[in-house]
Amino acid sequence: MSDTRIAIVLGTRPEIIKLSPILRVCDRRDVPYTLVHTGQHYSDELDSVFFERLGLPEPDYHLGVGSGTHGAQTAEMLTGIEEIVTEEDIDVVVVQGDTNSVLAGAIATSKLDAELGHVEAGLRSFDREMPEEINRILTDHAGDHLFAPTEESADLLRDEGIDESRIYVTGNTIVDAVEANRALAAEKSTVLDEYDLTAGGFILMTAHRAENVDDRDRLVNILTGIDRIASELDQPVVYPIHPRTRERIEEFDISVPETIRLIEPLDFLDFLRLEDTASLVVTDSGGVQEETCILQTPCVTVRDSTERPETVSVGANTVVGTTPGDIVDGARAQLSKPTDWDAPFGDGNAAERILDIVLPSHTENKR
Ligand code: UD1
Ligand code: UDP
Repeated sequence: MSDTRIAIVLGTRPEIIKLSPILRVCDRRDVPYTLVHTGQHYSDELDSVFFERLGLPEPDYHLGVGSGTHGAQTAEMLTGIEEIVTEEDIDVVVVQGDTNSVLAGAIATSKLDAELGHVEAGLRSFDREMPEEINRILTDHAGDHLFAPTEESADLLRDEGIDESRIYVTGNTIVDAVEANRALAAEKSTVLDEYDLTAGGFILMTAHRAENVDDRDRLVNILTGIDRIASELDQPVVYPIHPRTRERIEEFDISVPETIRLIEPLDFLDFLRLEDTASLVVTDSGGVQEETCILQTPCVTVRDSTERPETVSVGANTVVGTTPGDIVDGARAQLSKPTDWDAPFGDGNAAERILDIVLPSHTENKR
């Protein structure tokens, strides 16, 4: 058994889902770890429901940071993580993705005598207006072990002058998570019956990105475009709505078209079941672009850019922006393509590979 002391830091829905395969492999290999939850997400439907459904342990530390301005939120997390890494004499901190929780983990670790592992390294939208883009770049440049999901993302790190010795192509842990839960979702989830949906007979949407939903015009345009697709296909739209978007819809006094059914955010099994059976998914989520690609479900991305261009090049995803006409045209184009693409995110063993790298590297460095 390794004597490397690992801390795994998470704070939001996608981090819980994408780090779950690493926690599982740690358990299987009997590797102890310290689990730190920043508290960036705290509503049950974005947080505890995933711990329950995915059978994850209670965090060892919960920083309870909650919502706030970017600076205040990141600063509070940074202070908390620094204390834990110091007190627990942590050797390696593992973070995943591009949220403020990730940036806080990266900055705290880079100032201490601990190594930083970044899961999902090397993604770039090239849109520096997105807070996530800044978080990714800073985290990759602070990181010691950069786990790129694909060769393309590894190349982007090389292009930024990052040394080859820090870069590993591991695949994306979302493949591990989908493989572990897809059949279970088909067996256990009753979500289709619950919402009176038939496989192949509905559209699934998600939208929560700040640049889309904090702007009234963009949000109205997205809803209008999706309403038009729904009318054209004569299919209902089901929209598990992120609390950020629900707040904006109320604040902006937007009336949501009747074709679009707002429901509460779903747990991972129910959501995976909907992604697996929808005729089309329209989203601005990063994780959803990957999952639809893995599940062979056509995807339309309502953003101006994507940091997952592999989904577009294999033919699984069309990036359309947010004007209603472009959304409709993009949906038509995507639906006319075959769905037999090869998913580019790895073989479902990313978590195993990541732990192989994290554990021996530290032991060797210490010798
Ligand atoms: C965050 C990430 C985003 C990620 C998303 C995953 C950053 C900068 N953004 O966005 O990259 O895609 O998580 O879902 O890190 N709220 C609740 N309950 C919660 C959490 C938030 O009601 O548990 C509401 C609050 O009004 C809050 C707002 O949502 O102000 C935004 O939350 P925040 O964590 O700042 O950003 P997200 O939009 O969730
Ligand atoms: N997801 C979920 N329930 C929902 C919506 C999304 O379980 O109602 C999952 C989805 O399967 C994916 C992750 O949440 O794994 C994506 O999170 P989100 O879109 O919030 O963040 P992003 O990936 O854009 O950072």
